[in-house]
Amino acid sequence: MTFDFDTKVSRAGTASLKYDARQQYFGRDDVVPLWVADMDFPAPEAVTKALVARAEHGIFGYTDYPESVYESLQWWFRRRHQWKISRESILFCPGVVPSLYAAVTALTQPKDKVIIQTPVYHPFFTAVTDTGRTLLENRLILDNGEYRMDLAHMRRCAEDGAKVLILCSPHNPIGRVWRQDELLALLDVVREYDMTVISDEIHADLIFPQYQHYPLASLADDVNVITAVSPSKTFNIPGLGLSAMIATDPEQHQAIQTLFQQWHINNTNPFSIVGFEAAYQHGEAWLEALMVYLDETRRVVAEYCQTHMPMIKVEPSQGTYLLWLDCRGLGMSDDDLHQFFIEQAKVAMSPGTLFGEEAGAGFMRLNIAAPRSLILSALDAMKAAYLAL
Ligand SMILES: Cc1ncc(COP(=O)(O)O)c(C=O)c1O
Repeated sequence: MTFDFDTKVSRAGTASLKYDARQQYFGRDDVVPLWVADMDFPAPEAVTKALVARAEHGIFGYTDYPESVYESLQWWFRRRHQWKISRESILFCPGVVPSLYAAVTALTQPKDKVIIQTPVYHPFFTAVTDTGRTLLENRLILDNGEYRMDLAHMRRCAEDGAKVLILCSPHNPIGRVWRQDELLALLDVVREYDMTVISDEIHADLIFPQYQHYPLASLADDVNVITAVSPSKTFNIPGLGLSAMIATDPEQHQAIQTLFQQWHINNTNPFSIVGFEAAYQHGEAWLEALMVYLDETRRVVAEYCQTHMPMIKVEPSQGTYLLWLDCRGLGMSDDDLHQFFIEQAKVAMSPGTLFGEEAGAGFMRLNIAAPRSLILSALDAMKAAYLAL
């Protein structure tokens, strides 16, 4: 089977955040949008066909979660990640970010301390601060060109009273796929201080060759781990708004369930479940081809930067379609860096400071999930701006 990731598909008229909100976020709409994390590739054909078939039915009433949706999730994780998920541990949610908010709210009290590892996906900050909890920043260490966790500092956070850690695995924006030994060492700390981990594994399927994702919960059954997963990043269906949480501890499961009941988000919509199920059931070959394509694109970008813009270093990426560009060599302030890419290069990326005021300073996050010709044209524009510095 062949898949086409090269053809540019116009997203005009689809109210796409990535394209249509450029003016709002970047002050101009002529920038190449390589920011928010969705892909410019159509979802697997089986997903579209399933959605069309559902649309043709014509009745779009209140919709429950059929057993087949549970089964598709269980099947996928057993097959792809050797992780056996029990039926009773699953909770559905309209997205991973809402599930982070729900887990923090259900498992902690106002002012409780919650650890996040920066630089990290920005809603990790707000899931703690918006809910009135206290944020403890456990910065990752950039050591010889590779990020690693600072477990000594994490211990100090735990001794300071933190009971919950929000883990990003694989880690957005740095593209690390945590090794098994790293996760086991993390679990030792979690176990010692009796913490709960909320593990955001939305990028679990986007892993480059030579690396392997280990669901944290599959590595220990004596530690409380709440895992958030979704086919949304994997198959480019984030707009369908459906994710799952796996909470094995009955009390924690019930606490989250109760919140969902209070918020009245126990039902879904007819398209979300159809897309979710079709993606997991029929998307595997598409995903394999996607990762081959992205692997080549990340190689092309790294080589291009090294050859033409050596002061911009691409952190080696192990997973996700987000590249972390170390622009500190340009010697600009973060405001100037942002302006440089917007005004001179006309390329819209996410500023590193979004992921941590200090931890992300001097970095930019580049989304490479678009036809390679678009990425190359953005690189050419960046190069022209770079040479004019
Ligand atoms: C780590 C991480 N979690 C969650 C999300 C978004 O999840 P959702 O759209 O399901 O709320 C993203 C999107 O970029 C992400 O990178």
